[in-house]
Amino acid sequence: MTDSLLNKACRSLKVRQIRPLTAGGQKQVHLVTTAQEEQRVLKLIDLQSVNDPAALERARREVELLQSINHPNVVTVKSELTSIGDPIQAVFWLEDYLNGEDLRHCCPLENVEELQRMASDVASGLGALHNAKVVHRDLSPGNVQRLNSGKYVVMDPGFAKHTLRSGLTIGGQPGTFGFLSPEHLNRYSGAPTPASDVFACCALVYFAATGKSPIPFNGDERDYYERLRRANHAPLSNLRTDLPMDFMRVIERGLHAQPARRFRNGTELYQALKEAR
Ligand SMILES: Nc1ncnc2c1ncn2[C@@H]1O[C@H](COP(=O)(O)OP(=O)(O)O)[C@@H](O)[C@H]1O
Ligand SMILES: [Mg+2]
Repeated sequence: MTDSLLNKACRSLKVRQIRPLTAGGQKQVHLVTTAQEEQRVLKLIDLQSVNDPAALERARREVELLQSINHPNVVTVKSELTSIGDPIQAVFWLEDYLNGEDLRHCCPLENVEELQRMASDVASGLGALHNAKVVHRDLSPGNVQRLNSGKYVVMDPGFAKHTLRSGLTIGGQPGTFGFLSPEHLNRYSGAPTPASDVFACCALVYFAATGKSPIPFNGDERDYYERLRRANHAPLSNLRTDLPMDFMRVIERGLHAQPARRFRNGTELYQALKEAR
């Protein structure tokens, strides 16, 4: 069944499947080539097997959003969202192939320059989302790719929320444990905001620097939420003594429990990182 959906998607897009890139998430992610031998990524969601009523809406939003953003640190979509079946059985689309590894597979980053580049690239990509009035809401190691060229690119804005179009909110608690912001706990106050993405970005930098989330999830939700509410964490300087003080100050400010004490958005974080270099 799944194979035939994949075949249909490949035929429709006139691409050839090379190999699957990941398995296990809601999406199937395959490396494919076009007739011109260009490498692309095919993303396919089998709506019947994921059994999540919000999956279709999330896919639509992800593609629509990515089509509206043109930034070197945000993944580019290369096709429309296309569906199979009536009623819809599956949806698929093409993206640029980000040849490399996601942050789950390449951290910790020992090199200081590299870590600073990662922080700046992700902040810059986030700035582009925030300029488009969008909050990513699930910035986590699996959603940032390190290209072999050394560039970092933000992916998977499936949970993104338009700050001006609150009516589009869909169910489900977005985010990844270990990378939530304290505002993720205030379900009824319209949070998260761009400052919440700033928190998650700094948590990612902390993770990239140390191999550990600043506020790790150890299996006990109540304990995690308590530490998250206060953004309780060991200072980065306790774990890495080789990083510039100004850089660590920026990251610690981004990890403040109160959103108003952080940077307001990705662009402000990016500027602060630049000044800290
Ligand atoms: N454009 C891409 N190029 C290369 N690898 C990708 C690309 N998009 C996703 N991946 C890989 O596939 C994984 C899952 O993709 P993602 O869009 O995050 O799906 P999910 O919604 O299942 O989390 C990513 O963590 C990354 O390892
Ligand atoms: Mg993902």
